[in-house]
Amino acid sequence: MTEAGIVVAPALIEALRSATRVMFFTGAGVSAESGLPTFRDPQQGLWAKFKPEDLATPQAFARDPETVWRWYQWRRRMHATVAPNPAHHAIAKMQARIPGAVLVTQNVDRLHELAGSEAPLHLHGHLFRNRCASCGVAMPDVDDALDTPPRCDSCGGLCRPDIVWFGEGLPRTVWQEATRAAQKVEILISIGTSAMVTPAAELPRLARRAGALVIQINTAPTPLDPIAHNLRGPAGRVLPALVEAVWPSAR
Ligand code: OAD
Repeated sequence: MTEAGIVVAPALIEALRSATRVMFFTGAGVSAESGLPTFRDPQQGLWAKFKPEDLATPQAFARDPETVWRWYQWRRRMHATVAPNPAHHAIAKMQARIPGAVLVTQNVDRLHELAGSEAPLHLHGHLFRNRCASCGVAMPDVDDALDTPPRCDSCGGLCRPDIVWFGEGLPRTVWQEATRAAQKVEILISIGTSAMVTPAAELPRLARRAGALVIQINTAPTPLDPIAHNLRGPAGRVLPALVEAVWPSAR
């Protein structure tokens, strides 16, 4: 047991200490202790308060671009005020220790980057980037305060957040890189994701089928429980405890 009261099996500690290829696979739960809402929490989750079909589909944007745009502007303002928590910092620390570490996130925030993680693979896009909904060109210089989506200089199309909406495909090269890595890693650590949204949620299963050890850090059960070693608790407590257990000198 670590000082924080987290029980980590000695075999897991040994496996992590000697691993050279590890994937960190994160979801909204990793940012919860920074103050950002998750999606599926029954009370506070975004999808408990808002309907995804009204705000996170290409059809919703086509029907009512202003409402969709304003919702994302609201989320941007919320995200702009938060900072990485001990979970993000612990992941960055572990990445620095493990030569072949890969970070794959479903999160559209930039908290991994702010914690010092290099080049996370963002499966679901980026909240702070925009692109033209018609021609796809990046639109980097959009005023944060606008409450209607501006028009594209190249084609006149509407500006949209560079986020993967329901019914849309994942960015092809990012997904290819993530699936390739998942089939090669020795350990995949799934952190703060309900593992319910596919294809992203296939990564832990893909890694397991290819022989990897799957470790899951979550406050609640998920469909991954049967294939994972489960460390139950908030990521901001469990991950620093894991770092302490595996590399005691890293504290
Ligand atoms: P969910 O909201 O579905 O799941 C969050 C998970 O985090 C749950 O399993 C919680 O139990 C867990 N959790 C909450 N607080 C935690 C904490 N402090 N430490 C550890 N675990 C914690 O979020 P995602 O799995 O990320 O898609 O959702 C996947 C996708 O669905 C998102 O990327 C988003 C959403 O629709 C897009 O925006 C495209």
